[in-house]
Amino acid sequence: MKMKNLFVASTALSIAALPVLADPQAEVLHWWTSGSEAKSVAVLQEEFAERGGTWTDMPVAGGGGDAAMTALRARVLSGNAPTAVQLKGPAIQEWYEEGVLADISDVAEQQGWADVLPDQLAEHMKCDGHWCAAPVNVHRVNWIWANKAILDQNGVEMPTTWEEFNAASDKLQEAGITPLAHGGQSWQDATLFEAVVLGHGAEFYQSALIDLDPEALDSETMVEVFDEMRTLRGYVDDNFSGRDWNLATAMVMNGEAAFQIMGDWAKGEFLAAGKVPGEDFLCGATPGDGYLYNVDSFAMFDVGGDEDKVAGQNLLAELIVGPSFQETFNLNKGSIPVRSDVSLDDFDMCAHISAEDMAKDAASGSLLPSYAHGMALRGEPAGAITDVVTAHFNSDMSSQDAVQMLTEAVANAM
Ligand code: BGC
Repeated sequence: MKMKNLFVASTALSIAALPVLADPQAEVLHWWTSGSEAKSVAVLQEEFAERGGTWTDMPVAGGGGDAAMTALRARVLSGNAPTAVQLKGPAIQEWYEEGVLADISDVAEQQGWADVLPDQLAEHMKCDGHWCAAPVNVHRVNWIWANKAILDQNGVEMPTTWEEFNAASDKLQEAGITPLAHGGQSWQDATLFEAVVLGHGAEFYQSALIDLDPEALDSETMVEVFDEMRTLRGYVDDNFSGRDWNLATAMVMNGEAAFQIMGDWAKGEFLAAGKVPGEDFLCGATPGDGYLYNVDSFAMFDVGGDEDKVAGQNLLAELIVGPSFQETFNLNKGSIPVRSDVSLDDFDMCAHISAEDMAKDAASGSLLPSYAHGMALRGEPAGAITDVVTAHFNSDMSSQDAVQMLTEAVANAM
């Protein structure tokens, strides 16, 4: 009897102490618009709705997110920032310095993020020591995807050096096959470029594309990088200009081209089409040691104390790093969970290679942020490098001229 009274008393007390419940709202800006990307983000929308949230979708098409970032700038300038934004790498800290990001440390601490996220990746989510972004995944950028039947029919193995890549491509080209599916958009050119830079050594990548060391930028090795870029240009079909990345992936899938060099969001497209790794398509790291990572994340923009939106931001942050979303989303997206405690049992062989290489490269110091996907550099130097890479790829500029232009452009952007 005594016990019962006590229970009633404490229940009454906790109900009285409950704050008025907010109604979680979020307008979410992202660039996940391809088939597999849309399927992946739908997982978050569903979990958000199940927990009582109202999601307003703001998808901005355009691989790599350049168009999304332009849309974001316009929204923030007009004083009407979205609630949550797909944002990553140093752009997170750049927006924080503008004073427009919310602090999500309360959620991060309640949910124990520090215990389940690798330190190197967690650092990208911090602004002045507190949490300002929620990580979704780890995409590896430096992959080669191949149509297995084309390789088998032509007696070509998955290349492990750039020489092998070129020899395989020459052979395929002689057989009338387009060796490299590529979309002529500057971020895709940059994706090829950083893979080739990494192919000249993780240390060279670190000096050239992270430290922006003038000696590495203005070097014979960089001349060789542009030579290889010119060679790759020769393996691309005539209609490559402006092509979206997922259409290039479809070319490999449909047997219209042999290889694509692209992050593992391409694998998301293969899987969404029911293709099986090891049977229909092959994955292999681009030549050279190292792992270029690209961690998608969401930052929350200041909503001036609007309770419903704050509740939406907190709920989103909690779900994004939650183990269930991390598993389902990444199975669709082609990436691996950023949480270290999610089982990979249901993931495919390429995801296993990714996780193993990530651990190995973290131990050897060659787990490196992708410059092409906004993880390594702030906007200005990254943009300056990409402009040169694209100008070279789309002209007959010599490698020497490209190196000179690169060195000058980076110096001016610092
Ligand atoms: C993003 C991926 C996305 C890809 C293509 C990358 O920068 O990190 O999530 O799938 O661009 O849009």
